[in-house]
This record gives sequence, structure tokens and C-alpha cells, in this order.
Amino acid sequence: MRIAFIGYGNMAQALSKRWASDHEVFIGGRNIDKARELAQSIQASGSGTISEAVAFGELIVMATPANAVEDAIESGGGSDSFTGKIVLDINNPVSVPGGPHANEGADYLPIEFEEGSLAERIAALIPSASVVKAFNMCQASVWEMDPPIFDGRKLATLFCGDDTDAKGKVASLIESIGSDPVDIGELVYSRLLEASACIVIKLLFSGRDLHTVLNLVQPEIKPIH
Ligand SMILES: NC(=O)c1ccc[n+]([C@@H]2O[C@H](COP(=O)([O-])OP(=O)(O)OC[C@H]3O[C@@H](n4cnc5c(N)ncnc54)[C@H](OP(=O)(O)O)[C@@H]3O)[C@@H](O)[C@H]2O)c1
Repeated sequence: MRIAFIGYGNMAQALSKRWASDHEVFIGGRNIDKARELAQSIQASGSGTISEAVAFGELIVMATPANAVEDAIESGGGSDSFTGKIVLDINNPVSVPGGPHANEGADYLPIEFEEGSLAERIAALIPSASVVKAFNMCQASVWEMDPPIFDGRKLATLFCGDDTDAKGKVASLIESIGSDPVDIGELVYSRLLEASACIVIKLLFSGRDLHTVLNLVQPEIKPIH
């Protein structure tokens, strides 16, 4: 598959590295020197501007800060440039202390969108593309794990979207990094993924060991007769 990244930060570095050997990967960004640097380090197929990335990708990973997504769509050539593409939304629109949406006294809340979630906002901005939300629930270092195994158990990666074919392609990317894809439904469920990530981020920022909170060992399940 031709996979293009918009952005060359933490998440782009983690995910692009995992896919570069089996896919054609292109790194795009505002600073083409930084895009080239990442592309060379992972032996990607190419690098360049954001609009070149959009033109290249069958699947485009939105790897900018959540508040830069709309800007990135514009830089990519606007809504029509995304026609027929899969757009992978990995973003967490969350208010963090000191961040662009800091919310004194009540941080770590999802940023509100008229459409319901950022993923649905993206789908409204580029209706000719298929938006899938995934990879937002773990920090970049987890996506670098090869494979992401905890206590002998595979990491489950939750994803959602409205287009079955697009979700199938994202599921195969999840499997390719050694994780179990878990389809939680239509794109409307991105509201839950974005809200859940707020809890994860709040706990991470407080120094809590998430392993003990979210990755619970499954108790023995007794059959009901
Ligand atoms: N880091 C994590 O552990 C993690 C985990 C899960 C989800 N996420 C989500 O993934 C997204 C990316 O996070 P990250 O940690 O990779 O961020 P990051 O390291 O800060 O990288 C952000 C990238 O976006 C680019 N960018 C910023 N503003 C832009 C704009 N207006 N137009 C185009 N490009 C722009 C930056 O490059 P320039 O400024 O040079 O253009 C940079 O390449 C965020 O929404 C985050 O919530 C992050």
C-alpha cells in the first residue's frame, strides 16, 4: 500500500518505521528537510511537501497535533485532493495543561466538535475520503515495540470507521505490527476513543503505571449454564 504521513513527529516516526519495509511510505511536512531526514532514516520511498504526500498516499496518516489537522488538510490541497483516499486519524484532541486548549481546573477533557469528535469533523471536512480512527490509545513508544506484547499478551488496537474496506486495510496494518485489531464500530464511536484517550493521557501525565490500570489480566471466565 502507498502510505503517506503528514508530519514527522513522535507518532510518524514510530508508525512509519514499522511499515516502511512492507509498504511504500512517504513522509510529508511543512519542513521538507525534516521530512527527508525521517524518510532517509527509515528508508522510505520518498518525502516532500504536504500536498505531495496527499497526492502519493492511498492511505494518509494525519500525524500533526489535533489542532493542526484542518490546516494540514488545506496545505494538502483542500478537500478534493483527498477524494478516494483513506485518512487515518491518530489524533487526540484533549486539553492538556499549557496546551492550546488548556482549560484551567478541568484539563484532560475531549475538545468539543459540532460533529461529535475530531474524526467526525475530519470526515465532514473531507467527505470524499474514508476516515478511520486508530492508534490514538497508546503512546508512541508502544507503537515502536516489535511486537507490542504485554505479559505474553498481544496489544489490542481499537479502531472505528464507516467504510468496511478502509477498516480492513487499517486492520491489516495493525496486524502487521503484531497487534490485535478490534473493530469497535462506525466512526461515531471515535467519540469514545477520543474520550478514553483523555483518561489514558491524564494517568500518564500523573505518572501512573497504565499497565496496572488498563492492561488487566483477564480473570478466569466461568461458563454460564
Ligand atoms: N506522542 C504520542 O505518544 C501520541 C500517542 C497517540 C496519539 N498521539 C496524537 O498523534 C498526533 C501527533 O502527535 P506527535 O506526538 O507525533 O506530535 P509531534 O511530535 O508534536 O509532531 C507533530 C508534527 O506535526 C507537524 N505540524 C505541526 N503543525 C502543523 C501544521 N499546522 N501543518 C502541518 N504539519 C504540522 C510538526 O512539524 P512542523 O511543526 O515542523 O510542521 C510535526 O511533524 C497528535 O494529535 C497526538 O495527540 C500522540
